[in-house]
Amino acid sequence: TRVLSVTSECVPLVKTGGLADVAGALPGALAPLGVEMRTLLPGYRAVLEAQPEAETVFEVWDLFGGFARIRRGKLGDGVLYILDAPHLYDRDGSLYIGPDGHDWWDNPQRFAALSLAAAMIAAHGIEDWVPEVLHLHDWQAGLTPIYLRELGAAERVKTLMTIHNIAFQGCFGADMVRTLGLPPQGFSENGFEYWGQVSTLKAGITASTKVSTVSPTYARELLTGEFGLGMEGILASRGNDFTGILNGIDEEVWNPSYKTPAGKAKHKAALREEMHLPESDGPLAVVISRLTGQKGFDLLLEALPEFLEQGGQLALLGSGEGYFESAFRDAALKSPHVAVRIGYDEAFARRLIEGGDAILVPSRFEPCGLTQLYGLRFGTLPVVSLTGGLADTVIHANPAALSAGVATGLQFYPTTARALSQALTRLCELYRKPKIWQQMMKNAMAQPVGWDTSAAAYADLFREMLDPTGEADD
Ligand code: ADP
Ligand code: GLC
Repeated sequence: TRVLSVTSECVPLVKTGGLADVAGALPGALAPLGVEMRTLLPGYRAVLEAQPEAETVFEVWDLFGGFARIRRGKLGDGVLYILDAPHLYDRDGSLYIGPDGHDWWDNPQRFAALSLAAAMIAAHGIEDWVPEVLHLHDWQAGLTPIYLRELGAAERVKTLMTIHNIAFQGCFGADMVRTLGLPPQGFSENGFEYWGQVSTLKAGITASTKVSTVSPTYARELLTGEFGLGMEGILASRGNDFTGILNGIDEEVWNPSYKTPAGKAKHKAALREEMHLPESDGPLAVVISRLTGQKGFDLLLEALPEFLEQGGQLALLGSGEGYFESAFRDAALKSPHVAVRIGYDEAFARRLIEGGDAILVPSRFEPCGLTQLYGLRFGTLPVVSLTGGLADTVIHANPAALSAGVATGLQFYPTTARALSQALTRLCELYRKPKIWQQMMKNAMAQPVGWDTSAAAYADLFREMLDPTGEADD
């Protein structure tokens, strides 16, 4: 099966969040299953600089105001197609945001270009390679099935729209119908019109062959008003064509140097030293996260004093909204048991996972979440809100799970400071029962968190899309 993955970020080249990890890991996880997944990525400066040898294999004379070429680069053992369009991507600043802190003014064009390029590859083939399925990630790739129809290839080439976060809907003014060359009749309630605007995510949801999101629980939540953020109706209308497939993590990258709970001790000591944290008889909890409203850190700020009173410690790495950055900085000034580093630092993220006793993910909503999976693999017990992928990946230490010897962490509900605080108290209690704690660490480290199961689910889904009746099996 030939699949082109269309994504706006991808490790190890460019990343702002978990989408990059997923896009980077899937091709390698699918290859042994007979799925050849190639990747199309915008030619941001960092991407072109990292792949100076990438040769031109496709040219487009006018892609929203400039000449563009598609270059062939490398992604692990797989093929990377880089959309080199300097007028859209060759600039300072981050992937989506300009130096002034606002979204790039031409984001509609920048990602419509990615979508159109994907549709062109599907319609014409590239280097004699013709994808059968396009795997579309988030709003940035959402217009692809619309362009595919315009190019007359929508019957032949199937599309899977994967939602990594419904909060990002790609909404732009109605004038974009014209600017982006969209079919005017599509600007309707059952098409890509959304409260008078164009939503590229809605385009992907309504016009793709299938729709998925990144955990089964989030898939159910998205059908409700509380989590669907206005898209619940249109998602419900997709019926069984909408599913949830859990993310995995790259087990080669996230591979602990220790194989037993005892191995953590020296990493913990090193982390304490690095962060100038004193000795304590309570658990050392860590956080690695974007600091935004989604992630629920207002709850942690509220629950923190009680946790510290019980001997708990916190080491946090994150960046994002100024309010959270300064609130955590203040917390660190107030207590020697809180250490905070504001910024983005992958090597340090790893040292936190290695050295921490627990990892906190108190999100208000979480499509999947990856850091709790890193935590499991390293015996760093997750304390998570009972939502989305967090609900699907952590086995709560209730009495039944404890006596059956399967618990891997703690879940709290509802998503309030009170419930988080209770979970942290429970964490401290469990930490003081070394036998139970060690058992939980063992359980966590043995829990499968790689791609095996989910890669197989994607492979099955791609095949079903190409052969809905299953006739080819006979
Ligand atoms: P989201 O995509 O919503 O941010 P995920 O948990 O799916 O949440 O993915 C976040 C990814 O980004 C993880 O790989 C995490 O380790 C990484 N990450 C987040 N913040 C930082 C940071 N400050 N430094 C290093 N890595 C970070
Ligand atoms: C989004 C979600 C996160 C998920 C990631 C990868 O950024 O916020 O929960 O793990 O995408 O799918």
